[in-house]
Amino acid sequence: MDFENSLSFAQTLDANDLLKKFRERFHIPTINGKEVIYLTGNSLGLLPKKAREYVEQEFVDWENFGVEGHFDAKNPWLYYHHFHREPLAKIVGAKKDEVVAMGSLTANLHLLLVSFYQPTKDRYKIMMEANAFPSDQYAIETQVRYQGFNPHDAIIELSPRKGEDTLRTEDILESIEENKDQL
Ligand SMILES: Cc1ncc(COP(=O)(O)O)c(C=O)c1O
Repeated sequence: MDFENSLSFAQTLDANDLLKKFRERFHIPTINGKEVIYLTGNSLGLLPKKAREYVEQEFVDWENFGVEGHFDAKNPWLYYHHFHREPLAKIVGAKKDEVVAMGSLTANLHLLLVSFYQPTKDRYKIMMEANAFPSDQYAIETQVRYQGFNPHDAIIELSPRKGEDTLRTEDILESIEENKDQL
């Protein structure tokens, strides 16, 4: 298929999109009476219409079982990491024994860094975007300090060029090249 930069081409793609029925499963915010085009998937996605029912189920089980919900709830809480393994593996294209759902994003970042951030006196720098989500920023700072380095020296923060909103790939690559012996 040859890509065409036109409204009619986009509308044809939409019409043939096999996944388009999934749109109906989400609440889509409106602005001035019109549904928005919503692209935020990395942070807070759209509310699935089923979410209220699923959360309500947990309240019902908590109400009825208290701490025993760990074993007696409809979805026993103790085994959540097992329930999510297979669907998550599908989403990320991994084997199911390579995936585990656990903790909060920030706690997971700490665990990841404790395992993989093994700085030496020459290679100890971490590159990240400037003005990252605050908890991301603090997690990196904490790990850098924990390893005995000074965040002002060890963290390289990249910002978009003046007057631009996003980082350019070429600028990221250039900074990696410049710092490659210390990263
Ligand atoms: C980019 C980013 N980092 C960190 C967090 C914090 O996640 P958590 O509260 O799970 O640690 C969020 C939450 O929205 C986020 O969007």
